[in-house]
Amino acid sequence: MSRLVVISNRVAVPSKDASANQGGLAVALLSALREHGGLWFGWSGDTVETFTGDIHHVEGGGVTTATIDLEEQDIDEYYNGFANRTLWPLFHYRIDLTEFERDFAGGYARVNERFAETVMPLVDPDDLVWVHDYHLIPLGSRLRAHGMTNRLGFFLHTPWPPTRLLTALPSHRQLVEALFAYDVIGFHTADWLDSFHHYVTSQMGGRIDGDAVTVGDRTIRAIIAPIGIDTAEFEEAARSPDADFARERMYMSATGRALMVGVDRLDYSKGLRERFLGYDRFLANHPDRRGLTSFLQVAPPSREKVDTYQEIRADLDGLSGRINGEYADIDWTPIRYVNRGYPRAELAGIYRAARVGLVTPLRDGMNLVAKEFVAAQDPDDPGVLVLSIFAGAAAQMTEAVLVNPYSAEEMADAIVTALTMPRDERLRRWRSLLDGVRREDVFWWCRLFLGALEDVKEPATA
Ligand code: ADP
Ligand code: F6P
Repeated sequence: MSRLVVISNRVAVPSKDASANQGGLAVALLSALREHGGLWFGWSGDTVETFTGDIHHVEGGGVTTATIDLEEQDIDEYYNGFANRTLWPLFHYRIDLTEFERDFAGGYARVNERFAETVMPLVDPDDLVWVHDYHLIPLGSRLRAHGMTNRLGFFLHTPWPPTRLLTALPSHRQLVEALFAYDVIGFHTADWLDSFHHYVTSQMGGRIDGDAVTVGDRTIRAIIAPIGIDTAEFEEAARSPDADFARERMYMSATGRALMVGVDRLDYSKGLRERFLGYDRFLANHPDRRGLTSFLQVAPPSREKVDTYQEIRADLDGLSGRINGEYADIDWTPIRYVNRGYPRAELAGIYRAARVGLVTPLRDGMNLVAKEFVAAQDPDDPGVLVLSIFAGAAAQMTEAVLVNPYSAEEMADAIVTALTMPRDERLRRWRSLLDGVRREDVFWWCRLFLGALEDVKEPATA
């Protein structure tokens, strides 16, 4: 097989703190590259006064990374700006939070060009090149402009928004046209692919024929490839001494109460406010259950320079305080809310200790936490996954307790269902979920996407 070159904004550099790699993309690509080998190119996460294009090469654990530093202005306009103030909210259906600034679009174009110029000399003619996520949609067309003739793939880790939302973006047409520089593009679910098809047919006069999407004389393949986790590794991590220790700490702190756990980057798309309100409703509706349940929410801060992320943090601090103030007792805190990252084995132990895993985003491309929760469970006494119908994962994980996170009543009912589920039913649902998480793991996802890319006979040239 050809060498793989992966390009993404965020890179899990081997020398950096493993507990800092929060984010599904970094976690999944690290596993994929460990198995496949190859090169991973992206932003170092560091700032430099003037962009130099100097590349930091690091090798470790079977992965070679090559990263570049960006200027303050690049980070403001490209990462905090167009990527996370414009595309992220828009792609998560939050047009109310979407900011449209020309400077952001300029910075986005500039940084994509910087990525293209810098990575070009690292790519050999036979390499398979795989670009990831909304930060880098135009990268393919910039690489083609520099003469790249490799097979070039793109995978979107977020939802693809409905056409009516996407057309609010002034440069929507340009953005979608840029996708046609790739040979294969991938989405997590049929919903996101349908929305893409709808845009292409309604706005660009395009045609769909199976996987093939044609606009003018250019045809690309657009496929569904739901990302998975390294299930075997995570199952093993959940049985490790570090996991046992974390699990024990959880049990000791719970003092016999049923544990519920949520683990998410601190992001408005994760539905944390609605989750807290659902738990609040559960406590209000079920006075007999107060004091018998302990809810731990782990939410490490994310994208802290963006106002909406500062606002959600302040909001959740207030809300958890309000709920605790209302219901806490001298020996019971209803919500424990922790803003930090954990090493993966400890995280696995935290999931394993839980009777209920709450994964209730308002909108999510996939959500790997749902899959990690299942992989970490004790086979003799598995916990129950409560999963939002708006997570990409819901398409595969139909044996979870599915819930509409916008409804506090439904959330409260789902919590009761999960807490009172008989062991037989817990086992039956968990086994079926685990089968899926094992079968469609991150290696399966890689093979699916890269198989489609390898099949490309004539890569685009422009
Ligand atoms: P997203 O990519 O939007 O953050 P996912 O659920 O797909 O959402 O992926 C999140 C990843 O980040 C998971 O692999 C999860 O284990 C990891 N993660 C989330 N919170 C923490 C934390 N507190 N400590 C360590 N890893 C975390
Ligand atoms: O998985 C979606 C995603 O946006 C990734 O692209 C990203 O790496 C991750 O979430 C975490 O966000 P960030 O890189 O901004 O910390």
